[in-house]
Amino acid sequence: MNKINKFEMRLSALSENENFARSCAAAFCLPLNPTLDEINDVKTAVSEAVTNCIVHAYNGAADKYIDMSVTAEEGGKLTVTITDSGCGIEDVEKALQPFYTTKSDEERSGMGFTIMSTFMDELLVTSEKGRGTQVSMTKFIRGARNVDSRTDSAAD
Ligand SMILES: Nc1ncnc2c1ncn2[C@@H]1O[C@H](COP(=O)(O)OP(=O)(O)OP(=O)(O)O)[C@@H](O)[C@H]1O
Ligand SMILES: [Mg+2]
Repeated sequence: MNKINKFEMRLSALSENENFARSCAAAFCLPLNPTLDEINDVKTAVSEAVTNCIVHAYNGAADKYIDMSVTAEEGGKLTVTITDSGCGIEDVEKALQPFYTTKSDEERSGMGFTIMSTFMDELLVTSEKGRGTQVSMTKFIRGARNVDSRTDSAAD
């Protein structure tokens, strides 16, 4: 049977928690034996998603919460889900385009979602205007020891 390990956490929407969230996700995936590059990819993607909650969903309001859940499956599948109950996204397809930002005046470059989809293997964004946004990202951790258990092993 495929073993699935999971943790969930709730964080205040404060910028100092961005580092904490990404470190937790990275630490949790260590049993999957990730490479340093894979750990850094996960950390970067989590940072972008958490920052979006703080900056866009809640527009800096500190009395709000971000939920993060992480699952690690035997064989190397890591899934990080980050949920807010903020303003939501009017047009998700548009928001996913590179360089699209609603905050160009604040030196945002509109590259957060592009970075998430580049650094992770799958990105799914669901949102409802006025209710919030959920970002689910999956990465298949190849690591050193996981290669044997994968069917698409390219001996990389
Ligand atoms: N959690 C969220 N809640 C509400 N709107 C969001 C959320 N995440 C993203 N958005 C919207 O999607 C747009 C694109 O997000 P993305 O992360 O790609 O770029 P950015 O945050 O504007 O800039 P950057 O990430 O480069 O600083 C944002 O400008 C914002 O309008
Ligand atoms: Mg962003």
